[in-house]
Amino acid sequence: MSRFPIGVFDSGVGGLTVVRALRAAVPHRDIVYLGDTARVPYGTKSPRTVERYALACQRFLLAREVDLVLVACNTASANALAALSAASPVPVIGAVVPGANAALAASPSGHIGVIGTLATVASGAYEAAIIAAAPPAMKASIRVSQLGCPLLVPLAEEGWTDGDIAERICRRYLEELATLDSAIDTLVLGCTHYPLLAPVLTATARTVWQRDIAVVDSAAAMATCARHAIAPADATAGPGKLSCFVTDASRLAELAPRFLGEPLDAPALVDL
Ligand code: DGL
Repeated sequence: MSRFPIGVFDSGVGGLTVVRALRAAVPHRDIVYLGDTARVPYGTKSPRTVERYALACQRFLLAREVDLVLVACNTASANALAALSAASPVPVIGAVVPGANAALAASPSGHIGVIGTLATVASGAYEAAIIAAAPPAMKASIRVSQLGCPLLVPLAEEGWTDGDIAERICRRYLEELATLDSAIDTLVLGCTHYPLLAPVLTATARTVWQRDIAVVDSAAAMATCARHAIAPADATAGPGKLSCFVTDASRLAELAPRFLGEPLDAPALVDL
């Protein structure tokens, strides 16, 4: 039995989609969540800067005696996972490998589209992880097409996750992705903000490719990895506690219900 919390961080509020899946997967474990709201977005920053910010977030969580770190930010996972793992005495789980495995499981043809921040796409991490995890017989037929979709983060933050504006922006991006590969059968939501847009992205993908497209995100796959990586908590102790921290005054508590699926007390403000 573990009495230690699980640490989760993101550049902001998006990682709460991972916390939501984690609370369902390990309901008795305490969770410490850090949103680096002072420095969001990471998705437009250089790999070196993302790595520096991510290491600072992880140090904060390790000081709270977490026994597992979840990097609930695709940008940080794509650009800093090796440095985070090297600097951590406890296991570190990123978003990219679980997302890549989920994509391979969903894609019969191996034609996979990935949408994410500019920094995630520039890293090529999803393509590398998908090819590395593909069964040998499938490797030659894998084709990964990626597109940075920077407008989707503010759209999700603003709560404009359906209706005309969301549809038009998603359509604009997915039409561009379709010019890279008209045979995509699976779309990876390579950003923790995008699950909020999953319904509109799923419907728009069907329109653009004129067939059903499997839409996968890494939140559920990360939560499953976490469940396998840790000792169980004492179930008699009741539901796990969620403690939230931010690095700048933010709309986290206001936005949380949409990302987390439950209300959130005002997060504590910390300096890294
Ligand atoms: N959470 C980030 C990600 O998953 C998106 C927001 C940002 O750019 O910091 O990539």
